[in-house]
Amino acid sequence: MRRRSLFAGLAGLPAAALAAENPEAYWKRIRDEQFHLPGWRAYMNNGSLGVAPKPVVAAVSRYLERSAALEMDEYPRWGYERMEAHRKALADFIGCPVAELALTHNATEAIGIVASGLDLKAGDEVIMTDQEHPSMRGPWGVRQQRHGIEVRQVALPLPPKDPGQIADLLIGSIGPRTRVLSFSGITTTTGMILPVREICRAARAKGVMTFVDGAHMHGQIPFRVSDLECDFMAGSPHKWLFAPAGCGLLYVRQEMQERLWPSITVDGWSNPAAGAARFMQVGTNNRALFEGMVAGLEFAKSIGPDRIYARIHQLARMAFERARQMPGLRLLTPDDDRMFGSLVAFDMPPAQFKKFGALCRERKIWIMMSERFRVSSHIHTRPEDIDLLFQTLEEARKSL
Ligand SMILES: Cc1ncc(COP(=O)(O)O)c(C=O)c1O
Repeated sequence: MRRRSLFAGLAGLPAAALAAENPEAYWKRIRDEQFHLPGWRAYMNNGSLGVAPKPVVAAVSRYLERSAALEMDEYPRWGYERMEAHRKALADFIGCPVAELALTHNATEAIGIVASGLDLKAGDEVIMTDQEHPSMRGPWGVRQQRHGIEVRQVALPLPPKDPGQIADLLIGSIGPRTRVLSFSGITTTTGMILPVREICRAARAKGVMTFVDGAHMHGQIPFRVSDLECDFMAGSPHKWLFAPAGCGLLYVRQEMQERLWPSITVDGWSNPAAGAARFMQVGTNNRALFEGMVAGLEFAKSIGPDRIYARIHQLARMAFERARQMPGLRLLTPDDDRMFGSLVAFDMPPAQFKKFGALCRERKIWIMMSERFRVSSHIHTRPEDIDLLFQTLEEARKSL
C-alpha cells in the first residue's frame, strides 16, 4: 500500500514492503519521486549541505503563501517567539527535553553562542581536537585573543585503533586548568564518529564542561542527545535531516543554562522559565524554514531513521571499498563500522587531484574537495553515482 503524501499533489512514499522486496527499486523511487534532483546531478556533498525533499519545499512555500495572505493571527516569523511546537518536534526527534533546545540558523551560530557565552578567564583552558571545523576554531580563537584563554588541540590518530583510543586521548588530555572539552561528534575532515558519551561522562566526573559539535550527527546516525551526557551541543538539521538551509539547533543541558550568557537577545533574556528559548531571541527571522524543518522530520520518520541509516551507511561502505581498491588513494576514514556513518574521506597525489576535480565539475559530480576529498551520500544517492565517481577517479589516474 502506498502511503499518503504529507501534501496534496505530491507522491506518497513507496510502500515499506518494497524496501524489503526490492531495496534498489524502493530507493530509486524515493529519489525520483520525492526529490527535485535532476537525473544528471550526482550529489554527494550532504555533509556540507543536504537536499530538501519535495514535502519540505512544499511546506516552506505553503507557509510563505499563507504568511503573505496573513491567514494566521500571529506574526509569521521566529526570533521573538518560543516556537514551542517546532522545538518540540525537533526535541522529540533528537531525544532531549524541549526546555533544553533552542533553534538557531545553523551550527556555526550555536557554537558561537556557547563559545562567547561562557564565563572563562585568562589562563582557563579549552581543549579541542585537531580535526575541528573552522566554525569551532574561530569562536574559541576569538576568546583566546580577547580574553587570554588557552586553546589546546589534541591530535587524533589517522586512522585510530578503536573508539577507546580516542576516548583515552581526550580524557587523558584534561589538565588542572581545563574548563571545556569542545569536540565534534563526527569529524568534518574524515567522518570519524567519536565515543561521545564515554568522553562526556569522564569529563563531567572531572568537573569539565563538554561541548559537542553535532553538525554531522543529527540524521546521519541514530542517537538520543540526552544519552550522550554532554552539556552543550550544536547541530545543523539542514545537513542530514532534510531541513532547508538556515535551520540549526543548540542544546543546553538544564543545569548549564544559568552558566551560559546569551549573545544576541531582547527583553526576557534572564527569565529562567523560557529555558533554552532564551538563546533564540535574535529578532525577526524566516519561520517558513522551520515549517520546512518539521516537514523534514516527518519525512525522515515516515521512511524510518534506522532504514535511512542502514541505507546511507551501505552506500558509504560501498564508496569506502571502492576507494580502498584504488591505487594511490589514502583513506582517511577509519575502517570500522562503529566509527563512520556516511562520510568517507581520502586524499591523493596533487597531480591526480587537479585532473579529477576538473572531470567531476564536467560530469556534475559534487563531492567536497579541499585538501582532501569527502564523499557524503544520502538516500537520494544512487549506487551509479558512486560508480561514476570512481570511474572518473580511475580516468584521472590513467590520464597522467
Ligand atoms: C563539523 C562541522 N561543524 C560545523 C559546521 C558548520 O555548519 P553550518 O555551516 O551549518 O553552520 C560544519 C559544516 O560543514 C561542520 O562540518
